[in-house]
Amino acid sequence: MSNENGMASGQIFKVLVGVVVFLVVAIWLLAKLATSGYNVDAEVMTKEAVAARLKPVGESKASDAPPGMRTGEQVFKAICISCHGQGLAGSPKFGDAGAWGPRIAKGWDTLTQHALQGFNAMPAKGGAADLTDDEVKRAVAYMGNAGGAKFTEPPVGGAGGAAAAADPATVGKKIYESVCVACHGSGAAGAPKFGDKAAWAERTKVGLDEVQKIATKGLNAMPAKGGFGGSDAEFRAAIEYMVNAAK
Ligand code: HEC
Ligand code: HEC
Repeated sequence: MSNENGMASGQIFKVLVGVVVFLVVAIWLLAKLATSGYNVDAEVMTKEAVAARLKPVGESKASDAPPGMRTGEQVFKAICISCHGQGLAGSPKFGDAGAWGPRIAKGWDTLTQHALQGFNAMPAKGGAADLTDDEVKRAVAYMGNAGGAKFTEPPVGGAGGAAAAADPATVGKKIYESVCVACHGSGAAGAPKFGDKAAWAERTKVGLDEVQKIATKGLNAMPAKGGFGGSDAEFRAAIEYMVNAAK
């Protein structure tokens, strides 16, 4: 009996040990799986967190300020640096007084004109057509000053800067010179010619609002809005510029 009982308890003990060993191994495996899974998540989260932290820093350089309000330094770092940073394609290198000296000697007006309209391998506005003229001028001042000049940056949002950019006459002139001049400059295809008083007086009899409506829709060889893709207010400024030039 006692021998039988001993055998039985011995077997139970073995089974128990087996179960315990199995459980320990199983828990260890589960723990390992869980930990490695956790590690993968942690790594992904870290990468995301890093990206999230880097992004605003990278973006703030290019577009900290609203369009039209960027400083010379911001424009330089977003646009001009791609060539002028290293002196690419023969461009005067940033901070290189030797390279900038002869440029600065040309004077502010020539330099800004070249930066706005392009000059040999230098593209107009550095290739960034959305920059306002004042933004480009600020960048010229910023780069020029780093090369030894004493230019004054057109102020951001100051009397000179924002007022000049928002002045309808300036806006209208710019649009006329880039778009409308193609036909209205010479009076091509029957377009009322720039400065032709009689031709414009005839058109404006109906009032400027009506003229704008007609020109917005297009009229015979005059394409809708003259092919201009900007806002109605800007288009109106271009019309007024032409109308005022024929008064
Ligand atoms: C794609 C390259 C490129 C970019 C971008 C660029 N430039 Fe230039 N820039 C040039 C090159 C090349 C020259 C030299 C042209 C020459 O002298 O023949 C130059 C020359 C100039 C000059 C001197 C002009 C003169 O009369 O000597 C000014 C000022 C200037 N760049 C301003 C700017 C400004 C401001 C920006 C940014 C808004 C800009 N550039 C972006 C290539 C570039
Ligand atoms: C592709 C040539 C072309 C371009 C570019 C062009 N125009 Fe015209 N425009 C014409 C022609 C042609 C007429 C005369 C149409 C007619 O009376 O048959 C005209 C007429 C007009 C009129 C008079 C409309 C009327 O009431 O009689 C206005 C205003 C005008 N254009 C504004 C503009 C402005 C602003 C731009 C630039 C944003 C522009 N046009 C660009 C060809 C052009």
